[in-house]
Amino acid sequence: MEVFDAVRARRSVRGYSSTPVPTDKLDRILESGRLAPSAMNLQPWHFIIVQDAGKREEMSKARYAKFLKESPVVIVGCGDKKSSPKWFVIDTTIALQNMVLTATSEGLGTCWIGSFDENMIRKLLKIPEHLAIVALLAVGYPRKKLDLAAMVVKSGSRRPVEEIVSVEEYGAKDER
Ligand SMILES: Cc1cc2nc3c(=O)[nH]c(=O)nc-3n(C[C@H](O)[C@H](O)[C@H](O)COP(=O)(O)O)c2cc1C
Repeated sequence: MEVFDAVRARRSVRGYSSTPVPTDKLDRILESGRLAPSAMNLQPWHFIIVQDAGKREEMSKARYAKFLKESPVVIVGCGDKKSSPKWFVIDTTIALQNMVLTATSEGLGTCWIGSFDENMIRKLLKIPEHLAIVALLAVGYPRKKLDLAAMVVKSGSRRPVEEIVSVEEYGAKDER
């Protein structure tokens, strides 16, 4: 799948089948995070793969994360506050989005999760203090079959390009 096709096809998936994520696909997803750019190439990240049902159940107690009970894999994206205090959030986010696009191209669904109890997850997964939890990613096969055509983001669900892009100076429009 072309990168742009994956960008267009990706949607947040909030219902998952119990089919496990094949190891080779999970490896490719993680590799695409590992290869992400980072400020000064510090790579201030650590990713915890959670498949244990009990741990996923605990994380699913957050308000907008109920489907973590279902998604066979949860990737907990941690950023190293100590090694890169200014960029750890951005760098970790870039790596996670690489993973999202790779998962999409592998036919998998994902959802970013910002709804989590950092202290609870820190204890649950024994995450050291120098790592902040940036976001979680649910990964798995969508319960409903992926219909890539239907999944293409409808233009109405995003702000129009004229509103978010200026040319040469703020507020100036593209006259092409
Ligand atoms: C940083 C971030 C945090 C998010 N947190 C949650 C969340 O906790 N629960 C959830 O269901 N969706 C979450 N989302 C998904 C957004 O709601 C979703 O991306 C947005 O509504 C656009 O829909 P789409 O992803 O299907 O295009 C999050 C997305 C991002 C980027």
